[in-house]
Amino acid sequence: MNPLIHSLHPYPFQKLADLLSSVEPNGELPVIKLTIGEPQHDAPSIVLETLKNALDGVSKYPLTKGENSLREAISDWACNRFNLPQLSADSQILPVTGTREALFAITQALVGEKKDPLVVSPNPFYQIYEGAGILAGAELHYLPCEADKQYKIDYQAVPDSIWQRCELLFVCSPNNPAGSVTTLDEYRFLLEKAKQYNFAIIADECYSEIYFEEKPLGLLDACIQLGNHDYSNCLIFQSLSKRSNLPGLRSGFVAGDASLLKPFLQYRTYHGCAMPLHHQLASITAWNDEAHVANNRDIYQRKFKQVLDILSPVISVSKPEAGFYLWPKLPMNDEEFCTKLYHEESVLVLPGSYLGRDVDGHNPGQNHVRMALVAEESECVEAAQRIARFMKKHQNL
Ligand SMILES: Cc1ncc(COP(=O)(O)O)c(C=O)c1O
Repeated sequence: MNPLIHSLHPYPFQKLADLLSSVEPNGELPVIKLTIGEPQHDAPSIVLETLKNALDGVSKYPLTKGENSLREAISDWACNRFNLPQLSADSQILPVTGTREALFAITQALVGEKKDPLVVSPNPFYQIYEGAGILAGAELHYLPCEADKQYKIDYQAVPDSIWQRCELLFVCSPNNPAGSVTTLDEYRFLLEKAKQYNFAIIADECYSEIYFEEKPLGLLDACIQLGNHDYSNCLIFQSLSKRSNLPGLRSGFVAGDASLLKPFLQYRTYHGCAMPLHHQLASITAWNDEAHVANNRDIYQRKFKQVLDILSPVISVSKPEAGFYLWPKLPMNDEEFCTKLYHEESVLVLPGSYLGRDVDGHNPGQNHVRMALVAEESECVEAAQRIARFMKKHQNL
């Protein structure tokens, strides 16, 4: 057994199940789950239609590199979305079976050149970043996202000794859980450091299409604006899971620096997770259609407005720049909040400290909870009303 497996941390949902194992919900109220970031809106019917009609794809082995037609569709989508002059379907794009496996796999493929390698991650973070770094044999370095800095990472405060050892920097933009978006100035700084110290910037952009006012800036877009025309040191990870409500299709892509993607393709032929042909064809339909994505955004927009109207007067919370999470700051301990809220109001939320790591005795997720507004509008509103009632009852805590 690889001993590093024992260094992996339990998943946040496992911790939540343990926390609540002996807690009963309020028997008079149906349980509402705001915990898991699994989209609940309808999958687009045109994609399901394509999928049904393409089922004979199961009798073929798919190519790891994917069909040319899929890579072309992705290139068209990405060039249009991020104002790119070009993105080669042949050398700068690879389809992946969801970003989760791809974020894990890229870490295994990229870590190993430097002595004492570091994987640098936001804190709180999507737990795959950490597990991938651990299993690749790297040390993790966490960059805090704190309330007093509007949940933005202070990259300028990171010493060069960290960038020197860094092999891979995870940027989660739009950020899960805080919803902040990395700016052009931040990317300018990061690109300089990546070039100087030769590390890869891995931008997890799977929430980029769920925004409210402005389209979030993407890393490749930033590269073009900053004169990095071949996307050196940069890869973006995109997914249909949230954009198109297709988390079960397991479809996304990686795009950017061709010199990183070439060995990554070779790694993936051994890794063996090519996207089934019928999923590739369904994905083409999804990437080619923006109407369902705009409609999806409208649904989130309505939900966020209603929920925030109810919650803003009673809890410290703001609208995220993008994504489908709320990340309120609490006047009490997050585990205690979750336990009591579940017991009294049958609403499940995720303790923020489960999404972060303690560094020097401080976990930047503590006293926060993550609420995923993925359920139906009426359910989200009902949950917000119950949370407001709970806050009023416990306002002295
Ligand atoms: C920040 C982040 N990245 C990546 C993923 C993985 O998404 P998928 O594998 O469905 O593309 C998730 C899923 O919740 C996520 O929150």
